[in-house]
Amino acid sequence: MTSKVFNAVAAIVLFSALVVVRKPLNGELRQMEVVSIADAVGPESVAFDPLGDGPYVGVSDGRILKWLENEHRWIGFGTTSQNREGCLGQDEHETREQICGRPLGICFSEATGELYIADAYMGLLKLGPEGGLATPIATQADAVPFGFTNSLDINQSDGSIYFTDSSSVYQRRNYISVILSGDKTGRLLKYEQESQQVTVLLTNLSFPNGVALSQDGSFLVLSDTTNCGILRYWLTTPRAGSLETLAQLPGFPDNIRRSPRGGFWVALHSRRTKIVSWILWCPKLGRALIWLLPEKVITRAYSVLSKLRGSGIAIRISEEGEVLETLEIRMSSMSEVQEKGDHLWIGSINLPFLGLYRL
Ligand SMILES: *[C@@H]1O[C@H](CO)[C@@H](O)[C@H](O)[C@H]1NC(C)=O
Ligand SMILES: *[C@@H]1O[C@H](CO)[C@@H](O)[C@H](O)[C@H]1NC(C)=O
Repeated sequence: MTSKVFNAVAAIVLFSALVVVRKPLNGELRQMEVVSIADAVGPESVAFDPLGDGPYVGVSDGRILKWLENEHRWIGFGTTSQNREGCLGQDEHETREQICGRPLGICFSEATGELYIADAYMGLLKLGPEGGLATPIATQADAVPFGFTNSLDINQSDGSIYFTDSSSVYQRRNYISVILSGDKTGRLLKYEQESQQVTVLLTNLSFPNGVALSQDGSFLVLSDTTNCGILRYWLTTPRAGSLETLAQLPGFPDNIRRSPRGGFWVALHSRRTKIVSWILWCPKLGRALIWLLPEKVITRAYSVLSKLRGSGIAIRISEEGEVLETLEIRMSSMSEVQEKGDHLWIGSINLPFLGLYRL
């Protein structure tokens, strides 16, 4: 077989695994509204400031946008990079995202009104209440630079920040390779305000992603994306420092947010199909695919096909890991569900809008 034919066959196997159109779990897909973003895509994470204004989102061209509810429009609030030449309107596949920045997880400090940002390329940053250019506060830990800073949550009592670095090897734009290769270089980290130091809490994780503190702060939950699981890491109590699996999910989890009604919303990036499970079961096969196909091709095709698939799932789990609620809507590649009042604001990594769902 010529290598071209081999590539084509490998590509068909991989992508047929990803596009299998499935019936919704609960019968019908539910309806939602969209809040369009005119000139960018991928509002990955959603946050409200201490006054309850917003939401704010980070998008594919490195900007933080703020939604003005009364005027029904977005304004630019800040950026994670200084050199903005050619950045405006960059979509998720542009090669400049490592220069323009790609803000992922965002969260406000209620005490100071500062916005903390996990940018996939710029590390952990802080943006003042007046917006503008974000300031980096950490870019490495234990002499290992962050490779793919992803998600964060804040202890609102002392301002410490729990965040994830998904991989030291692969960057965000090759995120499919993190899964296919079985990469285990992800870390869970903690930034302390007083010392301004980063502590490494966990290493050797396979694509750690979303992170959220429990209601009482005794533990945090962590998306174990490659393994389609949610981990629980104890922070206090006699179990402090121990790690366990809290839940297994039918797909790849992205961000996690506490629900005001209890438990956590977990957004699933996509479902785990049989063929994907099979590829993951054999990391050599995943690595062969990466070797055969340019990473850019894999990620781009995956993204196009995931949009075609057309529906996505989010699951609300209790603090003990039981499924409380399943939401299936016409929105692919969901990245976060943020509940506020009787609304769910739903982010994605590649769509030009935020989803808005009324409970
Ligand atoms: C992480 O993995 C490396 C390489 O496999 C190993 O040397 C190290 O002991 C592991 N660390 C922990 C904390 O398990
Ligand atoms: C949050 O900060 C408070 C005050 O320092 C501390 O008592 C608590 O243990 C912290 N919780 C976590 C989860 O870090």
